[in-house]
Amino acid sequence: MKTRSKAVTKAVFPVAGLGTRFLPATKASPKEMMPIVDKPLIQYAVEEAAAAGITDMVFVTGRTKRAIEDHFDKAYELETELALKRKSEMLEFVQNLLPRNINCVYIRQAEALGLGHAVLCAKPVIGDEPFAVLLADDLLDGDPPVMKQMTDIYEAHGCSVLGALDVPREETASYGIVKGRAVAERLEKVEAIVEKPKPDAAPSTQAVVGRYILTPRIFRHLESVKPGSGGEIQLTDGIASLLGEEQVLAYRYIGKRFDCGSKLGYLEATVDFGRRHPEVGVAFSNYLKTLDQA
Ligand code: UTP
Repeated sequence: MKTRSKAVTKAVFPVAGLGTRFLPATKASPKEMMPIVDKPLIQYAVEEAAAAGITDMVFVTGRTKRAIEDHFDKAYELETELALKRKSEMLEFVQNLLPRNINCVYIRQAEALGLGHAVLCAKPVIGDEPFAVLLADDLLDGDPPVMKQMTDIYEAHGCSVLGALDVPREETASYGIVKGRAVAERLEKVEAIVEKPKPDAAPSTQAVVGRYILTPRIFRHLESVKPGSGGEIQLTDGIASLLGEEQVLAYRYIGKRFDCGSKLGYLEATVDFGRRHPEVGVAFSNYLKTLDQA
């Protein structure tokens, strides 16, 4: 009988990047706190992880990221004010931001040395367990939520799983790109992975997006990789090294991606989620129609 893989109960949220594409908005506040309508990007990512059964949320933070810790903390003053003003619906909302069984852990990445380095910073908390990595600026809208789709794949195969998406060839230089061999519908065994290849050098157009499930072996590889593209310790290079030792799968998830690290993707997400928002969706859709007519 096949032994069941250890469940994924921990997720790492690297939120220590500089967010230069959104300056000056990100000068004093984190990119991950930018809202899509009324909810910050980081909360969408945490809710996606929680929907996959993950209970320990590990944030790798840096300077100017205090707002993330405050967001998930108890807000005594705000709660008192809301109670005094009898805004009970809002109070309940603020008090139940996270399900009760969720733990938040914060680790500091003193210098933004790259995504691979940020993940390595979480090693003392993760220990010897498989774990998820979610980049909150990749907003993924899936049903079931994309991380749940990926934990199902992990449980079936017991190896690292990368969230993948087919991109236009002219965009390969913005992503880690995998070369793989199909093993099932939507699933490829990764044979090679390269960070930001130029379109004519890319081994495929299958890009890795900001969702990963990794086995703890990745830490050994991250400890030994040298700075790569952009002078940073790249997670892609760690995964390339891991490939020599373990199977890694790329999973083409079902869902829509918004690249909220870019201005255009952020605006697209705002329009998409705005149109579906329970409170303002109808009015906003009507407003958009008036623009079409103008
Ligand atoms: P990005 O490549 O999007 O970089 O990082 P960035 O700094 O956030 O944004 P730009 O490109 O300057 O606008 C991908 C993810 O890795 C995290 C970021 O917070 C983001 O979630 N990251 C990156 C770290 O946590 N630490 C790093 O040293 C680098």
